[in-house]
Amino acid sequence: MAKKIKTDSKKDPAGGKPSALIDTRVIYCGDNLDQLKKFPDGCVDLIYIDPPFNSNRNYEVFWGETKEKRSFEDRHASTQAYIEFMRPRCVELHRVLKKTGSFYYHCDWHASHYVKIMLDQIFSENQFQTEIIWRRTNAKGLAFRSFPNDHDTIFYYTKNNDYTFNRQYLPHDKKYIKEFYKYVEPKTGRQYQLADLTNPNKDRPNLTYEFLGVKRVWRWTKKRMQDAYKKGLIVQSKPGAVPRLKRYLDEQKGMPIDSIWADIPPIQSQSEERLGYPTQKPLALLDRIIKASSNENDIVLDAFCGCGTALVAAENLGRQWIGIDMSPTACRVMAKRLRDVCKMKEDEKLWRIGRGFIVRDLPWTEKQLREIPPFEFENWAVIALGGIPNKAQVGDMGIDGRIYPVSATPKKKAGELDFMDVWYPIQVKQKDKTGSPDIRDFEGVMTTHERAKGFFVSFGYTEDALKEIDNLFRTTGKVIIPLTVREILEEQIARKLV
Ligand SMILES: C[S@@+](CC[C@H](N)C(=O)[O-])C[C@H]1O[C@@H](n2cnc3c(N)ncnc32)[C@H](O)[C@@H]1O
Repeated sequence: MAKKIKTDSKKDPAGGKPSALIDTRVIYCGDNLDQLKKFPDGCVDLIYIDPPFNSNRNYEVFWGETKEKRSFEDRHASTQAYIEFMRPRCVELHRVLKKTGSFYYHCDWHASHYVKIMLDQIFSENQFQTEIIWRRTNAKGLAFRSFPNDHDTIFYYTKNNDYTFNRQYLPHDKKYIKEFYKYVEPKTGRQYQLADLTNPNKDRPNLTYEFLGVKRVWRWTKKRMQDAYKKGLIVQSKPGAVPRLKRYLDEQKGMPIDSIWADIPPIQSQSEERLGYPTQKPLALLDRIIKASSNENDIVLDAFCGCGTALVAAENLGRQWIGIDMSPTACRVMAKRLRDVCKMKEDEKLWRIGRGFIVRDLPWTEKQLREIPPFEFENWAVIALGGIPNKAQVGDMGIDGRIYPVSATPKKKAGELDFMDVWYPIQVKQKDKTGSPDIRDFEGVMTTHERAKGFFVSFGYTEDALKEIDNLFRTTGKVIIPLTVREILEEQIARKLV
């Protein structure tokens, strides 16, 4: 259940906004470099980014926007190009981070070492805090003659030395409890361990004294020892034995979390939070980062926010948030998620009085889509599906774009950056009643390209067209998925695509 953000007037100098500097509870649709340039210096408390990198080419193909797609091959042709793409964005992110702020960069082995060097240059080596290893999957890639790469890397930097850090804990595991908390108080049933009270520093004359007949250098002053003894917190097993402190299990916070995070499973096909968004990260991961590096009402920014995991986690934890993504589809998916999961309203009027959220700069409505030139409409539809529009319309025999499915893995390791053979054709018609002849034409195109599955986008389909699709499946086994513009606008497509 979403926690409601308090809009206390002291924290709310801008009326309805928690910060006078910047609007929050806003998703910006656009290139983050352009958007970030409009942000003032030092305006956010915590930044998490999970940019697409080389290994994510399939995801980009699914979810990217025009500009991203056009620059895709150049940008990802080499790690160097990737770093060049990320550097100006990280410079901007560093600028918009408050002096007390924290920054998390999520990546993997493809570029992590280069990313670390870049971040050291931007944040300074001294502001590097931790390299978090998130075990995201169990041994995969055993086919290769190597140890499988099963983890992601999250670099954690701070802008300065004065920063928020709330230590996070995991409950002790059963084996540990059995081994270390083996005593039970008969009256209360509380489990405890007996902890050492002697001081490792032997040169402490003021802490050297006799207690319960035993002379040692103690950790505490005599007065404190006596008080604890009176409360029954210090026990001596037999006369002459070294007194020890009762440490109760129920007073311990658990095991402090270190840099290896192996307890958070990735989004599985059965996960409740799964939206069908290929690069979706688990909420638990973002919860941990946000709890550790921000406090209630602080501002969390995710500048590559995908389906909005960081925004949902921030909202649930009572933080303010800002999201940026250049894919209109991603922006729609995350808006729907905020509405469904956080029960937030997407409403400008509510937002102005400090509730709800808004999406800025989203390009299209259904009405606009009916009116734009056919070529632009085709581009819009293909991009909205996360496909690649055909640059050369002529000569591609009726295909408006191609989709590269996420499930298709590269056949060989070398040449991973090449596009794969596995793709589905997309056909787009800017009309209300796509009919059976349109479907038959598309089937012909699929046959020419030896494709067994394809996607069709239009404003609507005649009954004949839908019957034709069924008929084709029964007689030829070919699958045509008819999608409507409304479905795309209403974010119904994520499940149909994956
Ligand atoms: C790996 S996904 C993020 C997934 C996200 N962490 C989640 O849990 O859903 C990366 C996202 O960055 C977006 N993106 C790529 N380049 C961008 C840019 N220049 N500006 C803004 N967003 C961008 C893509 O559209 C994609 O949705």
